[in-house]
Amino acid sequence: MGQSAPKPTTRFITLEGSDGSGKSTLLERIKGEMERRRLPCHFTREPGGTAVADEIRDIILKPGRALNPRAELLLFEAARAEHVANVIRPKLARGTHVFCDRFTHSTLAYQGAGRGLNSDEVAWLNRYATTERGDAPLEPDAVIWLRIPPDAARARVAGRTAGGAEESRIDAEKLVFHQAVHAAFEKMAKDSPQQFIVLDATSHADAVFQQLLEHSTWKKLFPGDTR
Ligand code: TYD
Repeated sequence: MGQSAPKPTTRFITLEGSDGSGKSTLLERIKGEMERRRLPCHFTREPGGTAVADEIRDIILKPGRALNPRAELLLFEAARAEHVANVIRPKLARGTHVFCDRFTHSTLAYQGAGRGLNSDEVAWLNRYATTERGDAPLEPDAVIWLRIPPDAARARVAGRTAGGAEESRIDAEKLVFHQAVHAAFEKMAKDSPQQFIVLDATSHADAVFQQLLEHSTWKKLFPGDTR
């Protein structure tokens, strides 16, 4: 029997950071960098990433209506189960790195700390939604967290919403909610320094990107840049 080719090492990277943290700009820079290095990548987001998950996203984020916190949690997890099984795992298995705008750490922060749901139960559901037929739950190789104090992030988006853009149901939560979310990320980053890449998102976009490229975890995950 012929030897099969060694499985490529693909990376699963998630990005976390509040509205106003510059996450979309950083994602564009990462996309450019990966293209420059000719590394096959797929960029996706949560909630969303499949037709069904995108429909669930509309239900979750639609402004101006009440949603029970447990129902909200289960909808995020339902969308995630679809996304992981149909997109993320297959892409990783076929040799593509995957970058996902938000993932399980958002659920721990928003539904756990923000909504006050039991964090062990949220963690259990995260594992349940990301486990496929005996595989281990899917954990990001790195979590890039764009760290910005909630009031600074709010000030940045204030201009945008004043210009007519409507805030999602979750972004529209009060400052105390966003402070709880921020504190949860702070704690997760402190507890998992090997997994978290914390960037100072109050800096200029170029400086934030530079921080990422120079981070030891990033260099370890994507070695060999000769620039
Ligand atoms: P989005 O418009 O994508 O916002 P952002 O630019 O802030 O990422 O909306 C996603 C919202 O959903 C965001 O407010 C964070 C929230 N969210 C949760 O509450 N739990 C989750 O598990 C995920 C993935 C996102």
